[in-house]
Order: sequence, then structure tokens, then C-alpha cells
Amino acid sequence: MRTVGLREGVDMSVVEVEHLTKRYEELTAVDDVSFSLEAGEVFALLGPNGAGKTTTVEILEGARRRSSGTVRVLGHDPADGARDMRERTGVVLQEAGFEEEFTVAELVELHGRMYPRRLTTDAVVEQVGLTDKRDARVRTLSGGQRRRLDLALGLVGAPELLFLDEPTTGFDPTARRRAWELVEGLREQGTTVLLTTHYLDEAEHLADRVAVVVRGRLVALGSPAELGARRQDAVVSFRLPEAADLTSLPALDGVLVPDGLDWQLTTMRPTSALHALTGWAAERGLEIPALAVRRPTLEDVYLGLVGAAGAEPLEGAPEVPPAEPAGPAHPADGADGPHEARRGVRARIGARRSR
Ligand SMILES: Nc1ncnc2c1ncn2[C@@H]1O[C@H](COP(=O)(O)OP(=O)(O)OP(=O)(O)O)[C@@H](O)[C@H]1O
Ligand SMILES: [Mg+2]
Repeated sequence: MRTVGLREGVDMSVVEVEHLTKRYEELTAVDDVSFSLEAGEVFALLGPNGAGKTTTVEILEGARRRSSGTVRVLGHDPADGARDMRERTGVVLQEAGFEEEFTVAELVELHGRMYPRRLTTDAVVEQVGLTDKRDARVRTLSGGQRRRLDLALGLVGAPELLFLDEPTTGFDPTARRRAWELVEGLREQGTTVLLTTHYLDEAEHLADRVAVVVRGRLVALGSPAELGARRQDAVVSFRLPEAADLTSLPALDGVLVPDGLDWQLTTMRPTSALHALTGWAAERGLEIPALAVRRPTLEDVYLGLVGAAGAEPLEGAPEVPPAEPAGPAHPADGADGPHEARRGVRARIGARRSR
């Protein structure tokens, strides 16, 4: 296990979460979740809408109160709002608001001043691919360009630990690749990254370990390869030869379902199923069109996990979740850290829009 020597001189994980629970009235948004991040690790929280990813990340950032459980981030309890923790972490929110009249460079510069150990404005602007928009006002940026600006604000403090809540949503494919390269570059420099995503390919590409969360619960945790290997079954797909009908097929060990013009057999014994099927065709001198065998992809595993967990009724979930009161999500933190400034801007812009 890789550990990091923190300033207190204690060896421990960069992030430690034990039995974390967050309730919004009747709804348990995060339900007894435990995981930890080692130094230099890229860790992904993967899950569908409403799984509790943002809630978890915001608790770790110190922006939201937990209901119960233990959380340590860089040796601190984020609920204490330690300035040291905030100065050593970078945050890319799922949805941020900006001061629209600032230019890109002005905003990055202002934000950078809140960090003792910072990168230069031009370096960060270049890193996120906004050099040609350096002097453009924020209000003129496209959605994807705003997201890049978000990324820039998360990076400018040269964080040891970076929280990225859906970093590439809204990116075009080139920008997405570029963001991936950026995260890979950060990993090479030893930055610890906690990201959330809906995209399996993103988790698979970037993350050393993936935690799958569904309805607040952690349903699987491991490297993408470990998760992919969770399922031993295989899918044999084929089309019936024109000269044959379904009733003449031999008994096949597995579950056979139609898939458009084809049939799909999900089986734990693909070798014997294939043997039966091809033997049957060979005896009759038939060729089986579109015959294929594939192992489950990480996507199949993920969809299986989400399906299984999603089948449970969501106990006590209100139809429309009540909003938390406006203002800082965690009043006890005060408003003096670098992240609060952005949340403040977000709150103000939110208020303006809602009028
Ligand atoms: N302030 C709040 N008050 C009440 N319920 C909330 C609040 N914030 C989030 N929730 C609920 O908690 C659950 C988890 O929300 P969260 O934003 O953490 O999900 P998520 O995994 O980030 O989803 P997405 O992928 O859509 O971003 C959802 O059911 C959501 O409606
Ligand atoms: Mg979210």
C-alpha cells in the first residue's frame, strides 16, 4: 500500500472515508460508504444520475455536512474547514458559476492569488487549451470552454489532491482526450485525483481504481480489470440459418433471448454451448450467420451492477427532493478559503438566474 507522509508526520492515505452517510430528510443519498485514496492514485466514483457522487465529493471538499461516518482528507476532517487542506486541494465543481465580465486570464489570476503555491496564469490557461481565449470575457465562452476554465481554476493552486466532478461533461471528443492527457500528466507528477464520471471509458482509461455507486451505496470497488473480471459468463450471439427453425435447435446451456434478428445466449459454459450449436449446424450442412462470442465488457458489468441495485425500491425517497437552504452549503466553514469564493460566485449567479 502506498502511503503519503503528511505534514503531521503520520503515514496515512490521502483520503479516508469510513461508513460515510448523508441523509437529506428521508432520502439517504450516501449510505455507509467506505474507501480510501493512496497518494498519486487516480480514483473514480462511477454511477448513474443521483447516485450520490457529488454529495460524497462535496463532503470531502468540506462544502457539505455529513450525517455520520468518518472522513479524513490530507490528515484533516474537512468539516473543520482547515485552511491547510483547502490550499492543498483543487476543486472542479460539477456546476460552477463565474463572474461573467471577467476575462479568462483575470479570473485565473484572481483565483490563483488565493493559493500560496501556485502556477502562473499563462501556464494554466495553456494547459487547458484556452490560450486563444485568454482575454475573452467569460460570458462569451462556449459550454465546453467554460468547463475548461473550471479545470483551470482547479489546477492553478498546484494541488496535491484534485477533486474533479464530471470533468469532461460537455467536452467535444478532442477536448475530452486532452483532458484525459491532462489527468495523466497530473498523475505522473504525483497528484492524487478523485473524479466522478458517468462514462465507463473515462473510468477505464484514467482510473487506477473505480468505485461503483448506485443509490448511495458502494456496490463494487476495484481496478477496471478486476471489475471486468467479476463476471465469468459469456454471450454467444448468432442468427438462425434460413433453412432452420428455432425448435430444431439443440438444448443450449444458458439464457437465450432474441436481439433483433439475432439470438443471444448468455452462458457460463460458452465452450459447450458453442460445441452444441456448431455440431447441430455441421450435421445439417448449415452455416450459422453472425456467430460471435464475447466476454462481458466493463460496461456489461456496470449495467449489471446498476440494474441489480436499481431494482430495489428506493425507500422513503421524496418525489421532489427538498432544496438545502441558500447560502454557503457549510456555514461552519466560513467564507475565507479559495473554494468558498467560487461557491459564493455560484450562489450569487444562481440567485440572479432564479429571479
Ligand atoms: N441539497 C439537497 N437536498 C435534498 N436532496 C439532495 C440535495 N442534493 C442532492 N440531493 C439528492 O441526493 C441524491 C444524490 O445526489 P448527487 O448530486 O450526489 O448525485 P450524483 O451522483 O452526483 O448525480 P449526477 O450524476 O446526476 O451528478 C439525489 O437523489 C439528489 O436528488
Ligand atoms: Mg453529480
